[in-house]
Amino acid sequence: MKSPQPTICLSASSLISFLFYGLGITCLTSATVYASYGGNEMALLSFKSRITHDPYKVLTSWNHSFQFCNWSGISCGKRHKRVTAVQLFSFQGTIPHELGRLSSLGGLGLHINKFTGVIPTNLSHCYNLEDLWLALNNLAGSIPKEMSLLSKLSRLVIRESKLTGGISHFLWNITTMEWFDASGNQFGGSIPDTLDICNQLPNLEFLQLWGNELTGVLPPSLSNCSKLGYLEMSDNNFGGKLTIDFSNLRDIYIIKLHSYNFHGCGDANDMTFIDSLKNCTRLITLNHYNCSLTGVLPISIGNLSHRLSILALGDNHLFGSLPSSIGSLVGLTALELKHNRFKGKIPTTIGKLQKLQYLDLASNQFSGTIPYAIRNLSLSTELCLDSNKLEGHIPSSLGNCKELNKLNFSHNRLSGNVPKQLLQLPLLSNFLDLSYNRMSGSIPSEIKDLKMLSYLDLSYNNLSGTITSSLGECISLTMLNLRGHIFQGIIPSSLSSLRGLRVLDISQNKLSGKIPQFLDKWNSLEFLNLSFNDFEGEVPVVGVFANTSAFWILGNNKLCGGLVTLDSVYKEILDSDDDRCVAIKVLHLHNRGAHKSFLAECEAWQNIRHRNVLKTITSCSSVDFQGNDLKAMVYEFMSNGSVHDWLHSSTFNSKLNLLQRINILRDVATALDYLQNRCQTTIVHGDLKPSNVTLDDDMVAHVGDFGLARLLGAYLNQSSSAGVKGTIGYAPLEYGIGSEMTSCGDIYSFGILLLEVMTGKKPTDNMFSEGLSLHKFAYMALPDHVIDVIDNDAIVMQSTEANARKVEECLAATIKIGVSCSVDSPPQRMKIEIVIHEV
Ligand SMILES: *[C@@H]1O[C@H](CO)[C@@H](O)[C@H](O)[C@H]1NC(C)=O
Ligand SMILES: *[C@@H]1O[C@H](CO)[C@@H](O)[C@H](O)[C@H]1NC(C)=O
Ligand SMILES: *[C@@H]1O[C@H](CO)[C@@H](O)[C@H](O)[C@H]1NC(C)=O
Ligand SMILES: *[C@@H]1O[C@H](CO)[C@@H](O)[C@H](O)[C@H]1NC(C)=O
Ligand SMILES: *[C@@H]1O[C@H](CO)[C@@H](O)[C@H](O)[C@H]1NC(C)=O
Ligand SMILES: *[C@@H]1O[C@H](CO)[C@@H](O)[C@H](O)[C@H]1NC(C)=O
Ligand SMILES: *[C@@H]1O[C@H](CO)[C@@H](O)[C@H](O)[C@H]1NC(C)=O
Repeated sequence: MKSPQPTICLSASSLISFLFYGLGITCLTSATVYASYGGNEMALLSFKSRITHDPYKVLTSWNHSFQFCNWSGISCGKRHKRVTAVQLFSFQGTIPHELGRLSSLGGLGLHINKFTGVIPTNLSHCYNLEDLWLALNNLAGSIPKEMSLLSKLSRLVIRESKLTGGISHFLWNITTMEWFDASGNQFGGSIPDTLDICNQLPNLEFLQLWGNELTGVLPPSLSNCSKLGYLEMSDNNFGGKLTIDFSNLRDIYIIKLHSYNFHGCGDANDMTFIDSLKNCTRLITLNHYNCSLTGVLPISIGNLSHRLSILALGDNHLFGSLPSSIGSLVGLTALELKHNRFKGKIPTTIGKLQKLQYLDLASNQFSGTIPYAIRNLSLSTELCLDSNKLEGHIPSSLGNCKELNKLNFSHNRLSGNVPKQLLQLPLLSNFLDLSYNRMSGSIPSEIKDLKMLSYLDLSYNNLSGTITSSLGECISLTMLNLRGHIFQGIIPSSLSSLRGLRVLDISQNKLSGKIPQFLDKWNSLEFLNLSFNDFEGEVPVVGVFANTSAFWILGNNKLCGGLVTLDSVYKEILDSDDDRCVAIKVLHLHNRGAHKSFLAECEAWQNIRHRNVLKTITSCSSVDFQGNDLKAMVYEFMSNGSVHDWLHSSTFNSKLNLLQRINILRDVATALDYLQNRCQTTIVHGDLKPSNVTLDDDMVAHVGDFGLARLLGAYLNQSSSAGVKGTIGYAPLEYGIGSEMTSCGDIYSFGILLLEVMTGKKPTDNMFSEGLSLHKFAYMALPDHVIDVIDNDAIVMQSTEANARKVEECLAATIKIGVSCSVDSPPQRMKIEIVIHEV
């Protein structure tokens, strides 16, 4: 330093200042005042008088009983008995303007306290001040312009308070300035560039203004700050073309400009600044994350400093290939290029980056294979290549990267087996995600070696076989996703040891057997998805199964029971009648608003009792998490599924025989007759079809969902004169032209249902086009060729010709009913009273 200084800090180099500052932040809550001369007692006493909060009663010792050098927290120089430093803790209050009387004060460190108020203008009287550290307080107001009088000030650190105003150009008049850190305040406006900043501040080494609200471009004159080492301007509202020429900044070692908005510069390539960094041989960090940078990464990237350790260019619009010269940056420990549009291969030269610990190339369009040379990244702890177009096998050479603890290769086109070497990485503890690829084969038993792994996502590949029981040894798992494979067999009992699991998704597989007992005993389980498998038996009601928003079991036709609660209603039923199975139909309605009529109608249906009408146990209405109406109906459980299932799916091993079919039709007709003629008011079904007819243990048919079509129509805001009603194929013509739903319409649907049951053909079958319909198909077979249209599965060879003749007559009579019911003209359709006598 220039003048002889007795104080400890004033002779410090900026490195020592940095340590002092760093330690101050991390270790102490302190206030430091250090002055060059004695005779400061009065000033110290004034300081004392301004302090409102001194929790450790440090300042009681500041009294006339002792000389001030003996006051608590005060240090004096040995020879001259002058105050050199004051260390104090946890102060509140304002900064006493009396400090301005310490005209010989060389350094003032009041960082990390709770000072409020403004920076006292009087401080400008301390014209010997070289260090002013006011960071981490609650100071408000702007920087007093009188500060420009501090002609010896070399370090001004005012970060992380609540200061406002602008970075005024008078600051550039303090020609001695070496460090200026005003980060984390609320400074706004643009940085004035009226002078050549660094002609004024030739010693500027450290400039940090991150986390303010500054606008405009960075002053191009920073190009002349040849001593600048540290430049961090991130997280402001800066924008526009970057016009700083870095070629003169030979000492710069940190450049952090993330969130600088290059967007809209109109330049085809924002990346040319890379060329100007060639001479910055000390560069360690270059962070241009999230800067809306557009352009290609120039080959000259490889000419940057060999010391470059961190290169972050993620969240930009960079395109083209990743130049192989990247391999020249042998000092890199972190390379972060995610969320860009890079394409082409990952260069094999990446293998030269042997110090790399963190590689993130996610969300680009990299294609080709993962280079074998990735084995060279033996120090890497995190490898993210997800969301690209990578293909081929995962190189087993990855087994060489023994430090890996997080690996994400998801959302690519990777194929082949899961290499066992991957599962034997000794430190893989954090994260392994291979989801959304094309991997095949089974899960290697080596998975048991992942004893420390917390997060494992293998979902949506083509893995097959059984779920290996060795997975049970991955005892640290908190999240396991095996969704969307072709796994078969049962959930292995060894999984019972995965007690720390919070999320388990094994949906969309071909798993079968019962839901294992242990699942409801895991206390930490918060989400369980068993949907779309072939599980059977009772769904438990405790543990994770007690919370209906925590488990998913849809698409397992053989499951029954369980809670599908929407509010307290279901629990009651299920508690009072534990071993009864119920079927629950949840109607998601994508419109909002409570409709009391729903409940009212459902209640009416609950009072209907008939052998062939599906019993509604209860219904309820709620609102789902998106605010949509959620309606649910609870029905009696029908163990034999629906007529549709018997006719068209492979759910059941056998087929319906003729007698069963006739009985079903008779049951349906009886139900319709009841609804039309024997209830207090006529009830219109509106959507009669085979999937709405379910069969109980004794194959007795029960018609369900009546009235629902009409009600839904009302919900979906389809007025009675327009909109689709019923189901295509089963709804009569007149519904299509705006007619109300009627009993007559139900007869039509019944006719079609009858013909479908008898012929095994859906009305929407591909064969029914160009004028041919199921009705016409059946009509044309009457009276003599009926046997040709009957479902083959229904016909059993008859022993005698007389019997065969009788069966044919019966079939013809049945088909005739179906045809009569499904004529286009409503008045000509058969009456249900007649149907029930004929069937
Ligand atoms: C003055 O300071 C001494 C300690 O240095 C303390 O013991 C004494 O109580 C203080 N006197 C008053 C009046 O606060
Ligand atoms: C900056 O310094 C120049 C002279 O060096 C002076 O004329 C000017 O008034 C100063 N500006 C401020 C704001 O102090
Ligand atoms: C750098 O300083 C020179 C000499 O003072 C000046 O001519 C030039 O304009 C400055 N450059 C920038 C970008 O301010
Ligand atoms: C790098 O420094 C040399 C002098 O050592 C200079 O001639 C050259 O122009 C500089 N290069 C760049 C790109 O600024
Ligand atoms: C830049 O790097 C390439 C190799 O990647 C080298 O051939 C070239 O000479 C370098 N240029 C400079 C200016 O260092
Ligand atoms: C991988 O590292 C070895 C030395 O450990 C080196 O010889 C080889 O060139 C590297 N591979 C690549 C592609 O850089
Ligand atoms: C449960 O799994 C099924 C099938 O994979 C899926 O459709 C559903 O969205 C999953 N549920 C949740 C809440 O993720």
